[in-house]
Amino acid sequence: MVNIGIIGFGTVGTGTARILLGNKDIISQRIGFEINLKRIADLDIKKDRGIRLPEGILTKNADDVLNDPEIDIVVELIGGIRPAKDFILKAIRNKKHVVTANKALLATEGNEIFSEAEKNEVDVGFEASVAGGIPIIKIIKEGLVANKVLAVYGIINGTSNYILTKMTDDKVEFSEALKEAQRLGYAEADPTYDIEGIDSAHKLAILASLSYSIPLSFNEIYKEGITKITAQDIEFAWELGYKIKLLAIAKSLDSKIELRVHPTMIPKDYFISKVDGVFNAIYVQGDAVGDTLYYGRGAGDMPTGSAVVADIVDIGKKIVTSYKLQVTSHEKNSGPQTHISRLNSLLVARHSSLKIKKMEDIEAMYYFRFSAFDKPGVLSRISGVLGEYNISIASVIQKGRRVGEAVPLIVLTHTARERDVIKAIAEIDRLPIVADKTLYIRVEGKEQ
Ligand code: NDP
Ligand code: HSE
Repeated sequence: MVNIGIIGFGTVGTGTARILLGNKDIISQRIGFEINLKRIADLDIKKDRGIRLPEGILTKNADDVLNDPEIDIVVELIGGIRPAKDFILKAIRNKKHVVTANKALLATEGNEIFSEAEKNEVDVGFEASVAGGIPIIKIIKEGLVANKVLAVYGIINGTSNYILTKMTDDKVEFSEALKEAQRLGYAEADPTYDIEGIDSAHKLAILASLSYSIPLSFNEIYKEGITKITAQDIEFAWELGYKIKLLAIAKSLDSKIELRVHPTMIPKDYFISKVDGVFNAIYVQGDAVGDTLYYGRGAGDMPTGSAVVADIVDIGKKIVTSYKLQVTSHEKNSGPQTHISRLNSLLVARHSSLKIKKMEDIEAMYYFRFSAFDKPGVLSRISGVLGEYNISIASVIQKGRRVGEAVPLIVLTHTARERDVIKAIAEIDRLPIVADKTLYIRVEGKEQ
């Protein structure tokens, strides 16, 4: 039997407990031993969570989990940085394995946590930290371990995907779609992490570390959210053959890695364009396997609980195997137990020398929305500046006539360098023919 204790009995804590109790028999039939939910700590132990727990499990004091010598695995599900980090470090120093869904903590403080786990020879499971119920961590760590990863990209924030889907389907503006996401309980009360690309960047830091054997590099990820996208951009994108999605992208090119989160125009016939609502999808391209795609629920009590329990089972199996080896070794009196398998606590075993590319060095196609006065010569002024910076135009849209007033002028480019785009836009935005700041969106897919 393996004993576990949960700290944090909120959305994911409740889902995890429900799965552990409800599917207890199925799980032990599969793995051959029992996972025993011994304690759950939460600040509020009176609240009805709609789940019946055995007597005496609940406690208000996290230390009842952290200091219990019988608990093998501590499951941290409170979220945030402090005290979550203190709890995890205390568990590790008490030689307990840890399972967490806390992507914000791992992305920013994970290097220290994993190194402490290595020192103490315990495991840290984090399947639930990326894409909820999709077992993407196991896929990259195990299923695709034979591959050099060429690219990992996807929709890994359900809230922003819901907002963009709502704006596309119902032709509403960002603020209205956000309100609806909040009403449905998808977005946080303070949705900044979701809509500014920060949550996606937390998850991308973890995926990139596993895929490219680099340290967790959250600070080096370029982050741009969806707040500036208008319903009109979505319509123009559609007209040009694209959908707008908030993508998290990691790509290896010229022995450097691109790490970026931003709204992206994707050809509307690509599968990932069809991933709507709160769903997540991740595309992984390996040199041996080719293209692979994973789709499912990226959040919610039960999908996320499913990933938490998968980690508990994985670590539980190692504990039981290690215990059996110790017994065998003792029975055979074979001296010190040097053959007992060392638990795999490291995020990656050895770091590669791959460097992260500066954002200004990336190349992409671009969509520009200029706010230009409707008068003769405007397009040639703008295209003149683009030409000076080596930016070649693929198509142009200007709708309606409002002589002398500002109208949206849409330009789609061929592949250009981000550094040139930044300079060209700054110059264009200073021209008297332009009424407002230019919006630009990077475009993925084949050149038109
Ligand atoms: P919730 O806010 O629903 O639950 C957190 C719980 O922890 C609350 O009940 C909270 O109590 C309790 N808590 C806070 N501080 C303490 C403490 N010091 N001791 C004991 N209990 C405490 O969060 P979620 O379940 O949504 O998220 C948990 C983690 O899972 C986060 O890291 C999140 O990013 C991650 N995650 C969540 C997903 C989701 O769908 N919700 C999906 C994937 C990952 P109180 O409410 O009183 O503060
Ligand atoms: N806020 C996150 C999302 C929760 O919307 O995807 C899951 O990590």
